[in-house]
Amino acid sequence: MNEFILGIESSCDDTSAAVLRGTRVLSNVIASQRVHERYGGVVPELASRAHQQNIIPVVDAAIKDANIDKKQITAIAFTRGPGLLGSLLVGTSFAKAFSLAMDVPMVEVDHMNAHILSHFADDGSGKPVPKFPFLCLTVSGGHTQIVLVKDYFDMEVIGKTIDDAAGEAFDKAAKIMSLPYPGGPVIDKLAAEGNPEAFKFSKPDIKGLDYSFSGLKTSFLYFVRDNLKTNPDFIEQNKADLCASIQKTIIDILMKKLVAASRSTGIRQVAIAGGVSANSGLHKAMEEAAAKHKWQIFIPRLSFSTDNAAMVAIAGYFKYMRGEYASQDLTPYARQSLNKDII
Ligand code: KG4
Ligand code: ZN
Repeated sequence: MNEFILGIESSCDDTSAAVLRGTRVLSNVIASQRVHERYGGVVPELASRAHQQNIIPVVDAAIKDANIDKKQITAIAFTRGPGLLGSLLVGTSFAKAFSLAMDVPMVEVDHMNAHILSHFADDGSGKPVPKFPFLCLTVSGGHTQIVLVKDYFDMEVIGKTIDDAAGEAFDKAAKIMSLPYPGGPVIDKLAAEGNPEAFKFSKPDIKGLDYSFSGLKTSFLYFVRDNLKTNPDFIEQNKADLCASIQKTIIDILMKKLVAASRSTGIRQVAIAGGVSANSGLHKAMEEAAAKHKWQIFIPRLSFSTDNAAMVAIAGYFKYMRGEYASQDLTPYARQSLNKDII
C-alpha cells in the first residue's frame, strides 16, 4: 500500500487534514474553532473565515506529522457535502488548487459516508473492522440515521430523524441549562456525576425505525422552566441529575430503534459513528446491548468520532482505488447528497 492520501474536512466548525498510507492513519490534525462558543452555536460566516485561516497551517502540520514530503501524496480527498456551504467551499477550493499544483487526482467524499467509513481507518491498534453487511447508527449535530451498510459505497438509510438530530437534542438541552456550546461533551461529563433516573422525560412514539427529538427538547424546556418558577436555583442545584437524565433519555430513544433494526434485518454487527458516538453513556449502552443481543460492536476512537479528516481520507482511499476521481468544475452541496434514502 504505497498510496498516500491527503484528506481535508471543512464541513462545519472543525478544520482538519489527515494523511493515510493505504488504510493506515499517519496523521490527523484537527483545529476546532473556538470563535463560536460565545454565540452558543456555529456562525457560518465566522466558520468559513476561520477555515480560510486554518487550512494551510493544518495541512502543513498533517504532512509534517506524517513524516512525508508533499510530493509523495498520491491523491487529495475532500468533503464535498453535506455541511455549511461557505465552509465546504474552503476545503473544495483548497483541494482543487492542490490537485492542479501537485498534478494529483482529487476525490470527493460525502461527510456522512465518511463518518461510517471511519471504522476502516487503521489507527495501529489492531482492532477488528466490521464486515459487510453491518448496521451503523450515525449520530451527529445534523444527522441521526440507522444505515444498512452493504459495501463501502452501497448504503441504505433504513431509519432517520423526522425533525431534530440527536446531537441537536444534546446541544439544545445544554443551551436550556446555559451550558457552553457544543453541549454534547459537556452534558456527557456532568452526567457522570448525576442520577439518570432522577427525572423522566416523555419519549416519542414514532413508527418504524424513524426518530424524533423535537418533542423531547420541548418537554425538557417546559420542565426546567416550570421548576425555575418555584426555585430560581433549580438548574444549579440539579445540573448533574438533569444532564444524566436527559442523556439517558436520548440514549434510550437511540438504542430502542437500533435494537429493532438489528431484529428486523437479522444483522448483529453494529457500529456507531458521528459526534454523538463519542458519548460515554452511548458506549455503555452499546456494550450492554452487545452482551444482551450477542452483537459484535464497533465504537470509533474519540478522534475519529467527531469531525476529522482521517475519515475523509479513508473514504477517499477506497474511491481512489476504484478510480473515481472528481472534476475541477464540481461544486459543494449543503444537503444530503441524494434526496433518496441512499447515501
Ligand atoms: O459529527 P460532528 O462532530 O459534527 C457534525 O457533523 O455535526 O457532531 C457534532 C455533534 C454536536 O451536536 C456535539 O454536541 C455532539 O456531536 N457530541 C456529543 C459528544 N461529543 C460531541 N454528544 C454527546 N456526547 C459527546 N461526548
Ligand atoms: Zn460530522
